[in-house]
Amino acid sequence: MGQVVRAVFKDAMAIYHLIKEYPVEVLPRSLSDITTNIDRFFVYKEEKEIIGAVAYKVLPEVGKEDEHIIEIVSLCVKKGNHKHGIGRALVETVVMHLQQFHPTKIMLLTFTPKFFAKLGFKRISKRNLYNKIYLGCINCTKYTNPLTCPEVAMAMKL
Ligand SMILES: CC(C)(COP(=O)(O)OP(=O)(O)OC[C@H]1O[C@@H](n2cnc3c(N)ncnc32)[C@H](O)[C@@H]1OP(=O)(O)O)[C@@H](O)C(=O)NCCC(=O)NCCS
Repeated sequence: MGQVVRAVFKDAMAIYHLIKEYPVEVLPRSLSDITTNIDRFFVYKEEKEIIGAVAYKVLPEVGKEDEHIIEIVSLCVKKGNHKHGIGRALVETVVMHLQQFHPTKIMLLTFTPKFFAKLGFKRISKRNLYNKIYLGCINCTKYTNPLTCPEVAMAMKL
């Protein structure tokens, strides 16, 4: 039986390989990016082995001083370990951790909306997320238009 813990620097390589298992579902991240943001990662560890990971990003806001949106990113559970509650444990831990910062919204983009719906996230329009679109989607090479890309935007209001 494993548990969700804060990631430490020596976890970065395992997280890097885990994210690489899902090139379609999860945005690839360099080892350097993971390492320099290690304090924003949680991992699910089972006897020192990393089975799952999740991280978050704070989205910049322009002209909306009262809005503080955090994006959940890099969520993945190692193949062969799905449907054992690990993904839920990771997301619930990161949501609980983020509450201390009083964000107005926690959002994500996903191909698995049913999983996140079970955790209390609701589908929202990407038109409400132009900060996210300008930050990342605008340079996406996979789809021509962020508003028609098949990833679903979801959010949890706090
Ligand atoms: C999505 C992912 C993180 C889910 O992790 P997991 O450990 O299998 O999920 P859990 O076992 O905690 O599931 C929690 C609930 O969601 C359900 N669920 C899990 N995956 C699901 C899916 N793909 N579709 C619908 N429901 C799903 C489970 O049945 C469970 O329901 P229950 O509470 O009624 O029993 C995992 O499938 C994964 O790593 N996928 C590849 C990477 C990816 O898509 N990441 C998300 C990027 S936004």
